[in-house]
Parts: sequence; C-alpha cells; structure tokens
Amino acid sequence: MPATIRHLYVHIPFCPKVCPYCSFYKEASDRNKTQRFLDSVLEELDQRKREFDLRPETIFFGGGTPSALSTPQLDYLLSGLRERLDLSRLREWTLEMNPATVSLEKASLLRGLGVNRISMGVQSWDEGLLKVLGRVHSGAQAERSYAILREAGFDNINLDLMFAVPTQTREQWQASLEKTIALQPEHIAAYCLTYEEDTDFFARFTRGELTQDSGWDADLFESTMDTLCGAGFVQYEISNYAKPGRDCLHNLAYWLGSDYLGLGPSAFSTIGGRRWQNVADTSIYCDRIGKTESAESFSEALSDQIRQSERIAFGLRTNRGVSREAMASWNREVAQFEAGGFLQAEGENLVLTRSGKLMADSVGQTFV
Ligand SMILES: C[S@@+](CC[C@H](N)C(=O)[O-])C[C@H]1O[C@@H](n2cnc3c(N)ncnc32)[C@H](O)[C@@H]1O
Ligand code: SF4
Repeated sequence: MPATIRHLYVHIPFCPKVCPYCSFYKEASDRNKTQRFLDSVLEELDQRKREFDLRPETIFFGGGTPSALSTPQLDYLLSGLRERLDLSRLREWTLEMNPATVSLEKASLLRGLGVNRISMGVQSWDEGLLKVLGRVHSGAQAERSYAILREAGFDNINLDLMFAVPTQTREQWQASLEKTIALQPEHIAAYCLTYEEDTDFFARFTRGELTQDSGWDADLFESTMDTLCGAGFVQYEISNYAKPGRDCLHNLAYWLGSDYLGLGPSAFSTIGGRRWQNVADTSIYCDRIGKTESAESFSEALSDQIRQSERIAFGLRTNRGVSREAMASWNREVAQFEAGGFLQAEGENLVLTRSGKLMADSVGQTFV
C-alpha cells in the first residue's frame, strides 16, 4: 500500500529582488527559465504520484516568492496541479506573496483556483526599515496589496513581520505591530531577524558592521507576545499568532510531526523513515526531472526515535505542548525544566512557560 500524503509543499524559487538577510533558496526572476520550471514541477508531481497516494488536506506554495510568477504562469501551474490531484479533502491552500507582486487579477485567479489562504511578507511598515531590509515595496504598497487580497475574497491572511532589524527602535516595532493589528489579519508571524550564513547581512555581521544583542531580542519578543495576545491573537507557536481557529494547518502538521511531500528545487520531504531534499538549483532540478532522474540531493534514514525526538522539540514550540508520556525517556531533563520554571503541566501535556518560550531553542535541543 503506498503511503497516503496529506501535506504538500511546492517551492517556487523566484523573487522580484533578493533580500540581503534571506537564505531561502531563490534567484531573481528570469522569464526564460520559468516555463521549463513549471513543467518540471508538474512532471515531478506525476512521478511522485506513481509512488504515493496523494490526497492533500493542506497545500503550501512557498519560496522564494510564488507570486513572482505571472497570472498566466500561476494559472498554468495551479490548473495543472488541480487536474492531477484529488482535492476532495483539501482544507487549506496557502500561497506566499510579496506585496510588490500582488494584483487584483492575480489574487482573483488564485481565489478562483482554490487558494484560500495568503501569507504576505510585510516585514515592517516603516519606510526606513524597509530600505534597511532591501525590500522592493513601500509600506503604502503593502497596505494596498492587503486591501486587494480582501477585495479578491481572501478571508484568511497572514502577514509576516520581522523584529530586531538593524537600527529598529522599540517604538518602531510597537508601531508596526499596532498598524498590523489595526488591519485585522487572521494571522501574524513575527520573526526575530537571524543572521543566516551566505547572506549579505551575515557578511556584515561577521565584519562587525551589524551586531546582535540577545537581551534586546528577548525584550522585543516579550513585548510582541504581550501586544498580540492583548489584541486577541493566540500564540500557537513561538513566532506565530492567530485569531482563534485560524492556525496554519500546514505548518502545524510540520510541527506536530506529520509526513509531507515537497516538490521543486530545495524542497524537503519527510515520509515514513526517510527525509530528503531536492537539489537547490533550478537548472539542475529541471534537467534531472526532464531525464526522469531523481531530483534528490540529500537523503537520510530516520529512526522512530529520531522522529519522536523531533516531534518533542517542535511540539514544545506549540501551545499544544507534548504529552508527558511521549517524553518518558527524558524524565530527568523534564523534571529539571519543570523545577526551573521552563515547562509546566497543562492536563496530560507539558507546555513552555513564559520564561520557557524565551529559551525555546535550547529546551528543544535537549531532546534531539
Ligand atoms: C519566503 S518569505 C515570504 C514571502 C515573500 N518571499 C516575501 O518576502 O514577501 C518567508 C518569510 O521569512 C522571513 N524571513 C526570511 N529571512 C529571515 C531571516 N533571516 N530572519 C528572520 N525572518 C526571516 C520573512 O518574514 C519572510 O516574509
Ligand atoms: S524574504 Fe522573500 S522576497 Fe526576500 S529574498 Fe527571501 S523569499 Fe525572496
């Protein structure tokens, strides 16, 4: 019996312009490459369909910037996907957009093809900080794009924000949060800027031109929790806040340890006892798929114990926590975290306390 896959990810590696802090696999949009890429993704889907029973409950088009594709290109790709898949169980279909690549025509097409959730990268509403971040859009453009998404009928929208951006003041961050709340999105992702290897920001960080202060990061993280939870959002994962019932089902599936299939260059998949990643190069990806060769560049076996450890590490980042029983092999560590005030019982489960959330990475690391 082939494994049934309920969560599908599609990686679109194009961006209107590459941001200096970002390490996701992407390249500046190149119209000449795109049709070959779209055909390759559909071909990879056909190949995987022979191996797995694909009946997605969630689909996530991420990147890169899926909305960097033109309206006809999105129509081609999404229609091709619809023709090939049984979508009778589909509950959530998210597509990531950059505010510079939103139009009413594009948004209406996506809505019509079944996309029912949009995740848009706003990062900040402050013009100066948008420049620091090398973004291609203004705050006003992001606001217009948000209004267009509503006009096209999207009633489930996430806005991404970033804090601890170089030169950002507490007041600027607070203003960005308040402006976002006033727009009433269903979901807000608030990420602490991280200096990722192989980015311009990382090079500037290693030269000492940019600095990081973990106390300042923690301070902004705490005020984020207070502001967003005070405005009726539920912090259902360390960086993710949703109005009740609006959690991202796709990301929750990752965090709770479900299997998922990823298509496209650099996409990860985890199915049963195996995890793999496709090659992070669009031309090589298309060549290999065209020759019906595997696009995988990395693969590892995952024991039940590794998957269980990952479920604990990621599950603890969510407000659902993890059952005490699942952590039975780590009784001593769990007792220390409880005594230290980092974990607390909630029914059968253990969840991070407020101070535990500030240490989420190191608490999680203990179990992997
Ligand atoms: C794939 S992008 C979202 C869609 C679109 N590409 C855009 O930027 O508008 C995913 C999100 O990851 C976050 N992100 C990217 N690099 C980051 C970094 N170095 N530190 C923290 N957050 C980061 C940003 O908030 C970004 O919106
Ligand atoms: S943040 Fe978004 S737009 Fe910027 S480079 Fe990364 S994926 Fe592309």
